[in-house]
Amino acid sequence: MGLLLQNGTVVTAEKTFPADVLIEGETIKEVRAGIPAASHKTLDATGMLLLPGGIDAHTHLDMPFGGTTSSDDFETGTRAAAFGGTTTLVDFAIQARGTRMRDALDTWWKKAEGRACIDYGLHMIVTDLAGAGLEDMDDMVREGVSSFKLFMAYPNVLMVDDATIFKALRQTAKNGALICMHAENGSVIDVIVQQALAEGKTAPVYHALTRPTTAEAEAVHRAIAMAEIAGAPVYIVHLSSEDALNQVREARSRGVPAFAETCPQYLLLTIEELKRPGFEGAKYVFTPPLREKENLPKLWDGLKTDNLQVVSTDHCPFCFEDQKVLGKNDFTKIPNGGPGIENRLQLLFHHGVNEGKLSLNRFVEIVSTAPARIFGMYPKKGTIAAGSDADIVVWDPKTEHLISAKTHHMRVDYSMFEGFRVRGNARQVFSRGELIVDGGIFLGKPGRGAYLRRAVRGGAWK
Ligand code: URP
Ligand code: ZN
Ligand code: ZN
Repeated sequence: MGLLLQNGTVVTAEKTFPADVLIEGETIKEVRAGIPAASHKTLDATGMLLLPGGIDAHTHLDMPFGGTTSSDDFETGTRAAAFGGTTTLVDFAIQARGTRMRDALDTWWKKAEGRACIDYGLHMIVTDLAGAGLEDMDDMVREGVSSFKLFMAYPNVLMVDDATIFKALRQTAKNGALICMHAENGSVIDVIVQQALAEGKTAPVYHALTRPTTAEAEAVHRAIAMAEIAGAPVYIVHLSSEDALNQVREARSRGVPAFAETCPQYLLLTIEELKRPGFEGAKYVFTPPLREKENLPKLWDGLKTDNLQVVSTDHCPFCFEDQKVLGKNDFTKIPNGGPGIENRLQLLFHHGVNEGKLSLNRFVEIVSTAPARIFGMYPKKGTIAAGSDADIVVWDPKTEHLISAKTHHMRVDYSMFEGFRVRGNARQVFSRGELIVDGGIFLGKPGRGAYLRRAVRGGAWK
């Protein structure tokens, strides 16, 4: 006996069609109109969209950063993700300098074990390729860590030099993994930051004013150039500005395999948030920073024209009251990061689909199918088709929802999107055939989420 979702409208990256979906065990057995109910359990999805579960390819759960630790762990973060229709995420393990990547992988597996409520993969943040670093990258690939993040920013913390970046890119040209790049010129930014501090400019807004868009564009250009020389694709994370997007567009127009994601905050918020009275602007301190409003329509356009392929959240929450406050007298000490894991589909559906900026199919592609392909999870994840994991969101396109810290499930005391009213929300969420969210009630169990061994040479390599 299976579970039959009846009379819904299935949406994939390619098409939208009326159909029933039969789930048997953890997988999708059949997708077509008129599947006989036979002895199956049924769920009426009349008026609902049936979407492949959302995939958030960029989260930081339980991450030590900025002298503290991100406030959502694998239990609270994955539960919040599920409420918003995300059934898979890819988090970041961090190689501590001078240590082996396997140590970091073990540490992050332990963080997730017994806690993850949805399936998860891991990228590895590379901080050190001396010694056995390149062998470690191959070792990680064998463990299903098929992507690595390197930082061109945060000097003395996570930043690596160009030689390290180039060596890592060259290694992926051989082993088929994908380099994800935090692209900002950290050395230049550091000079501007030190000057601001010397001039007594310590308020949150200086976080944004010391990180020009040209410092992002320069790093994007350099990252793509190094990838071209190495003969590897590259994926720019959390792209925030028109200047940076122009670099990706230029490369793609030459056929270079450069890919990029942006995040809801860059599509919907501006630098004005950092100018809020008192210390409130600290809620919006993350990197790259929020930009001037002229950038926003350019990013939406980038999504439409496929110069941006993915929207992830960069979910990295720190509580305002006891964590952001670390930078009360010095913006450089504000832990960098913001919450958003729960709201990505709601925001993209409302501001993208409802406002006519994205088709339904492009929405599904951006929040699910493209990250599945690029990060080696497709077609197990990222679509609704026979044989795929039964990660399905029964999406009510008509229901209204008010985003607020009072009602959200993320373990953080504010919302970046407080007061945003959206139309469209997850009604039921299935993860590998299990109903884990039903009408605002969480039914999943911590620890049920499985580690995903991701394949190399995903969509970025085609
Ligand atoms: O401010 C941010 N984005 N914090 C998380 C770390 C990163 O750079 O992705
Ligand atoms: Zn980053
Ligand atoms: Zn991040």
